[in-house]
Amino acid sequence: MIIGVPIEIKNNENRVSLTPGGALELIKRGHEVYIQTNAGLNSGFPDEAYEEVGANILPSIEAVYDKAEMIMKVKEPIEPEYKLIKKDQLVFTYFHFASYEPLTHAMIESGAVCLAYETVEKADRSLPLLIPMSEVAGRMATQQGAKYLEKPIMGKGVLLGGVPGVSPGKVLVLGGGIVGTQAAKMAAGLGAQVTIMDVNLDRMRYLNDVMPPNVVTRYSNEVNIRELIPHMDLIIGSVLLPGAKAPKLITRDMLKEMQPGTVLVDVAVDQGGCFETCTPTTHENPTFIIDDIVHYCVANMPGAVPYTSTIALTNATLPYAIQLANKGWKKACQENKELEKGLNVVNGDVVYEAVAEAFDLDYVPVEKYLA
Ligand SMILES: NC(=O)c1ccc[n+]([C@@H]2O[C@H](COP(=O)([O-])OP(=O)(O)OC[C@H]3O[C@@H](n4cnc5c(N)ncnc54)[C@H](O)[C@@H]3O)[C@@H](O)[C@H]2O)c1
Repeated sequence: MIIGVPIEIKNNENRVSLTPGGALELIKRGHEVYIQTNAGLNSGFPDEAYEEVGANILPSIEAVYDKAEMIMKVKEPIEPEYKLIKKDQLVFTYFHFASYEPLTHAMIESGAVCLAYETVEKADRSLPLLIPMSEVAGRMATQQGAKYLEKPIMGKGVLLGGVPGVSPGKVLVLGGGIVGTQAAKMAAGLGAQVTIMDVNLDRMRYLNDVMPPNVVTRYSNEVNIRELIPHMDLIIGSVLLPGAKAPKLITRDMLKEMQPGTVLVDVAVDQGGCFETCTPTTHENPTFIIDDIVHYCVANMPGAVPYTSTIALTNATLPYAIQLANKGWKKACQENKELEKGLNVVNGDVVYEAVAEAFDLDYVPVEKYLA
């Protein structure tokens, strides 16, 4: 198969969808890989690194889309890319269709086969191509929180780990899933006193077993949250109710109960945030202050660490990309239910029910194409 990797043109997206190591694995299996010049540069992979493994460099985004049978990307296509996508072309990337109707219509009109990273799903209902980015965001949440606790950037002036003779900082993590677990692990590693709150008792049992002694769990409810927040230095929001807006666990009035300079990192910002005062921010301007409380609400946290994020993402996508390239999308999806779940739009039909429902479009069961 001919695989094309364009440069990401969405604002501030520095990741690339394939590393040179990934390109080699595809080439070894007889496929051709075409990389747009400089596509990997911001992730630490210059053109030469791809050429060394036998990939070809193309000068423009048009040339990549024109050549490729399968496009591998990171972010959803944006408007200038719509017209480049061809009928029957396989596009394997994050789409997040339900959040943007114009993209859905553009892909229906293109006649392409859109396989979305975010809906590839394992039998246990986990989402293997979302997990790596949650892991990155969780670890980053603590790193960013520690930074913004410094006085020159309006924080309380607390060193999370403390020093001999001085108590360590206190961290509250709301939601002990993928993001929350990684955030708690990092904070614990720095020496902070960490509390994870969740509503899933099985999850808390597990966390209680695997976390070090400076991490404790508490059931998440308003009374417990109000009891803890006056004593916290850093509060990380990482709850998720699948398919729904995040619950507002920290309300505006609660800010008054916190100490000035407390830092709130709302990782759940992409689901509306779990702090009432959360509004999305960017890496250029990541924080704002309300009632002396520092808010960090960047919606694409992994974008700031493209080297790590690119490798984490491609570690997860490559096994699927190899199946798609070896077998073609139809056979690969027939033989692997996880990939089948990724199909969202096929040759003008919406084959993912939630996307059809979101915009009141006709839903066509994917069996039409896979039977
Ligand atoms: N900002 C970013 O760059 C970025 C990157 C990756 C993920 N995210 C977001 O981070 C959020 C968390 O993702 P995840 O992968 O950790 O999800 P997850 O499903 O693994 O974990 C969510 C946890 O929240 C818990 N929860 C639900 N209701 C709760 C409540 N009322 N109180 C406390 N806990 C509650 C669940 O039991 C679960 O353990 C999602 O909104 C995700 O989209 C953001």
